[in-house]
Amino acid sequence: MPTRALPVLDIAPPAVAPAGPRAPLTPDDERLREFRPELRSLPSFFVWTLGCQMNKSDSEEMAGRLIAAGCEEAGTMDAADLVVINTCAIREAAEAKVIGRQGHLQLLKRGNPGMRVVMTGCSVRESNRAGLRRRYPAVDLFLRPDEEPELVDRLGLASAQAPVGAFSTTSATTVVHGATVSDATHLVRARTEAIAGGAVSRHSAISAWLPIIYGCDKTCTYCIVPFSRGPERSRPFDEIVDEARALAATGYREVTLLGQNVNSYGHDLEPEARFGHVHTARTVGRRQDREGRPDLAELIRAIDALRTADGRPAIPRLRFVTSHPWDLSDRLIDALRDCPSVCEALHLPVQSGSDPMLRRMGRQYTIEHYRERLTRIREAVPGIALSTDVIVGFCGETEAEYAATLRLLDAIRYDQVFAAAYSERPGTPATRLADDVPPAEKRRRLNELLALQEGIGLERNRAWLGRTTEVLVDTIVPPRSHDHEDEEAEGTSESRDAFARLPDGVSHLTGRSRENKLAHLAGPAGLVGRLVDVRIEHAGPYALRGVLA
Ligand code: SAH
Ligand code: SF4
Ligand code: F3S
Repeated sequence: MPTRALPVLDIAPPAVAPAGPRAPLTPDDERLREFRPELRSLPSFFVWTLGCQMNKSDSEEMAGRLIAAGCEEAGTMDAADLVVINTCAIREAAEAKVIGRQGHLQLLKRGNPGMRVVMTGCSVRESNRAGLRRRYPAVDLFLRPDEEPELVDRLGLASAQAPVGAFSTTSATTVVHGATVSDATHLVRARTEAIAGGAVSRHSAISAWLPIIYGCDKTCTYCIVPFSRGPERSRPFDEIVDEARALAATGYREVTLLGQNVNSYGHDLEPEARFGHVHTARTVGRRQDREGRPDLAELIRAIDALRTADGRPAIPRLRFVTSHPWDLSDRLIDALRDCPSVCEALHLPVQSGSDPMLRRMGRQYTIEHYRERLTRIREAVPGIALSTDVIVGFCGETEAEYAATLRLLDAIRYDQVFAAAYSERPGTPATRLADDVPPAEKRRRLNELLALQEGIGLERNRAWLGRTTEVLVDTIVPPRSHDHEDEEAEGTSESRDAFARLPDGVSHLTGRSRENKLAHLAGPAGLVGRLVDVRIEHAGPYALRGVLA
């Protein structure tokens, strides 16, 4: 496997995560100070982000553009003059959350008449623009995901001090299967400009999101994403490696490559002589010509090849989400095996354990194919943690089809399963099928499946008892937090008792193992941002607890 010669980096010690709201940029050159906009004349902003990692990354870019324009970040939505809602449309419940806040936002606007609300993200589609004003009465401006780079311009905030804000207005749509959808082509260029202009305000100084491909070309009949995000568009290979190199030099310990289908990266890029050795034939799904084009395997190898002076990976932890079974190539599996920085964790959504169901869902693989891929992965990377997404109660799901999903979870024994009841999404192909599993039955299936997985998760986590694992510490858990929703999901409340009375100078910390398991430990706050060895002494279904080894 050819590796490219890459410059050796001097890695700075990891910076500590920013404690409060991010500050606006100050000009490097003192002479520019008098040209700085009057801060009071600019709105303070708050970005409310729902949905997946891609939205989180997009929000970092929007916040970065606003900060570059001179705006300050408000600590809360209620204190902001500008609220940007980055929506998720994957299920009805995600949209209901935003609809439910309209009254509160209208109240805030009455108290602060200059306040503006912008809504963007996957709920804003060309096809539903007309109905948005009625559903979201508090919103002043709607931007499709591909229009996000125009935010600063459209609000009239671009200025000579904020060249990044003055992004040329080039949003575009394209037609896919008769539907007008966003075209992410210019998002690739917008990212280039944002990175060059320093207009990405990352929320963490430890772990960074790195988008590599926008959009989705797949055909899942239940899913809104292809309509919200448009067709797949890959970022240029060298730009991604450059961004990773810059992150390493800043001290980031973990980078997650992002895409709705991260492993289909590169198929839309031009072939190049240096990728002449890349031959990947898809074994399932729509055929694709990948000859001589970069792929995720190539990208992972290039980022892994960024090394410190003593030869260690410059970014100790490399992750990627979300992979689709269509594109889980042998080349990718080999790269996971060969690259020490790639974490031993793979998220591979299966959706259902039944072939007829998978056909109705448009997933285009069979359970046999899916399991063959997992077998290969487990051979190549022994001990790899596996996680998946499952939908229960999709159109026409019989008891037997549902039981096949339970049997699959039982057989594969995933470390983590993200399950949801099917929620019909307007305009998706599945709206032509009957949504005929009653809500109560969907709930029953979901609860039963989650209970089964809880036992499996506990068993998987118990396998860590007595073992020592590397944890990247990223959070100090405050002594009393009221965030009960998070606690349940992360198993924090159970661990809280174990850390109830800590001596001075010792905090309750959490972090992730390479297998992406949440781990609780006690230690000095200075460990945040550090990789530490933890001996596991307690295992729950959703988290581990241990002591510094
Ligand atoms: N691109 C990724 C995941 C995108 S959405 C992939 O293909 O795996 C994340 C998850 O949301 C999906 O894996 C699916 O399990 C779930 N999902 C998508 N549409 C849904 C719907 N209409 N109802 C319920 N769950 C849905
Ligand atoms: Fe949705 Fe399927 Fe695309 Fe994932 S691959 S985003 S589930 S259409
Ligand atoms: Fe939601 Fe859009 Fe992500 S629908 S899951 S925010 S791609």
